[in-house]
Amino acid sequence: MKILRRKSAASLQNEVAHDHRLRRALGPINLTMLGIGAIVGAGIFVLTGQAAAKYAGPAIVLSFILAGTACAFAGLCYAEFAAMIPVSGSAYTYGYATLGELVAWIIGWDLILEYLFAASTVAVGWSGYVVSLLYDLNIYIPPSLSAAAGTRLIEIPTAVAAACKMKSGWEPVSDALLEQVKAVGTDPATLGHATAVFNLPAVIIIVAVTGLLVIGIKESAWFNNLVVAIKMLVILAFIGVAVSYVNPANWHPFIPAAEGPGQFGWGGILRAAGVIFFAYIGFDAVSTAAQEAKNPQRDMPIGILLSLAICTVLYIVVSLVLTGVVSYTRLNVPAPIAVAVDSLGPAVSGWMGPVIKIGAIAGLSSVILVMMLGQPRIFYAMSKDGLLPPIFSSVHPRFRTPWLAQILTGGVAMVFAGFFPMDILGELVSIGTLLAFAIVCAGVYVLRFTDPKIKRPFRTPAYWLVCPLGVFFCFWLMAGLPMDTWLRLVIWMSIGLVIYFAYGFRNSKLADKSLRGGVK
Ligand code: ALA
Repeated sequence: MKILRRKSAASLQNEVAHDHRLRRALGPINLTMLGIGAIVGAGIFVLTGQAAAKYAGPAIVLSFILAGTACAFAGLCYAEFAAMIPVSGSAYTYGYATLGELVAWIIGWDLILEYLFAASTVAVGWSGYVVSLLYDLNIYIPPSLSAAAGTRLIEIPTAVAAACKMKSGWEPVSDALLEQVKAVGTDPATLGHATAVFNLPAVIIIVAVTGLLVIGIKESAWFNNLVVAIKMLVILAFIGVAVSYVNPANWHPFIPAAEGPGQFGWGGILRAAGVIFFAYIGFDAVSTAAQEAKNPQRDMPIGILLSLAICTVLYIVVSLVLTGVVSYTRLNVPAPIAVAVDSLGPAVSGWMGPVIKIGAIAGLSSVILVMMLGQPRIFYAMSKDGLLPPIFSSVHPRFRTPWLAQILTGGVAMVFAGFFPMDILGELVSIGTLLAFAIVCAGVYVLRFTDPKIKRPFRTPAYWLVCPLGVFFCFWLMAGLPMDTWLRLVIWMSIGLVIYFAYGFRNSKLADKSLRGGVK
């Protein structure tokens, strides 16, 4: 059947050996920094505290270990594929080599949920932090230009924000936020109200990142290294200062007694693992830079696994310190790290508060950058295979970047970030990524049987255990996501299938039989 046609791993290796259009400029350090750049972002700055307060308590540390283990399985499988088939298409290409064209298309289409939607989602978060930092500096961005079209906003003055442990400035109205404001004795009706038209800062950051990515991979990697260094310094400073304020009494009870399904107890640890999985997303983005790596066979596994290992350790330490400094019950706020910083006393919080905001802005900038780097490279591979129009594989003659795909990606991300509310799309990022991880784990297993002899510069240890466990963990975490998210995934995939049968199926280069590997 044509939809099952596969590209052989050998033909992919041959193809990449003859494609020198992208610039090979990245070594192991740059690749690891790209991984950390994509991983550390909204997850650690926001979700950790909230998940501890709502679901796991101090045992959020166990949630991090659990989600980290699931990601380690997927990371090992990604490392095997990325070293063996170092093509920019990442999971899409691995799917093509193992499970056939239709599955490959499904992963490629699914990865849009991860990369493009994550870039837009995080750009909205970035905008929130920048608007708030500027507000603290008495620079006011009009509320009508600071959120998605139609979002109702309320002005949180600095004093109220400090009392509520939230960002100051214009915030989207929600029942929880109104309750918090009332709880500190402020009548919400006395605060400013506005309705947004579009999110200007989110659009600006997407345009700026797109411009940088078009200009060159070296320049982009350099900028990424800079912001990763800033965010790591900020997080290490937080750990270094806060650790001496830890009160072990805050870790008791370590696993609070269950209060309902998914609320504390072991069920809560699992629920929290599903939520903070978002914090790990991004290590796989390293694999989209495979065609720009100087020595992908050696450096792809290093970049993927080292960035994942560094971030796992960092997350475990941050969550231990965070729940040790303040009681987890106080962390269900929009800026939980700020709560911990405030509890260190005015002498520390005076300088560390703004520093944390700068760290968050740096953190989110690099997530946007690496996600926006990954997406056009996947389109590039899909277009070279004929599943997308040729415009997606056009490489700029001087910059040697997939510039048209980059600009198209930026344009779409800009529209999402500027005009759409992002909470719904954010959940799609997690489910889409988990699906891709599951397929990659399954792919490694299948290829060990269908192509046992192909050269594997990195081999997943105990693949017979790691691959099935990887698939199992991913579906388990997916099962914990809301029904609505599943429905949206099905709708998104159905749209993808229509496009595949209308375009890709007919234009696939694999119509040329000489390129095929497996099922004919
Ligand atoms: N892991 C990334 C973040 O936490 C997506 O922002």
